[in-house]
Amino acid sequence: MAPPFQRHIFVCTNRRPDGHPKGDCATKGSEEIRAAFKTELDKRGIKGTMRANAAGCLDTCAFGPSVVVYPEGVWYGGVKLEDVPVIVEEHLIGGRPVERLLMKFAKKEAKPGEAKPADTKPPGTP
Ligand code: FES
Repeated sequence: MAPPFQRHIFVCTNRRPDGHPKGDCATKGSEEIRAAFKTELDKRGIKGTMRANAAGCLDTCAFGPSVVVYPEGVWYGGVKLEDVPVIVEEHLIGGRPVERLLMKFAKKEAKPGEAKPADTKPPGTP
C-alpha cells in the first residue's frame, strides 16, 4: 500500500554538463532547495504526511529551479532557498499556492504579449 502523502513535492535536481545550452536546476541550487524542503517538513512535524523527492528534468529548465506539488499539480519556478519556508507555510500547510512563484504557464493572468492562460499548458501536455 502506498504511503498516504497529503502532498508530494518534486524538486528537479537534474544536472547537465557545464556549458549545456539548456542549463539545469542543480546548478541553480535545487539540491539545496530539496534538502531545505525536507528540513522544513521535518521541523514542522509533517514529514510523514508530505514528502519532498528529487526529480529528474521536469522539462521546464528555463524556469528552474523547478518544483511541482501534487496532487494539485502546482508548478513553481525560479525557487530560491528563502522561498521554501513560504511554500511550506502558505501552500503545503495553508492550502494557498504562492502566486508570485508560479511558473508563467500556471499564472492566472498573462501579461500583454504573453500567451493567455487558456493557451498555455504544462510541458509534455499534448
Ligand atoms: S533541468 Fe530542471 S526542469 Fe529541466
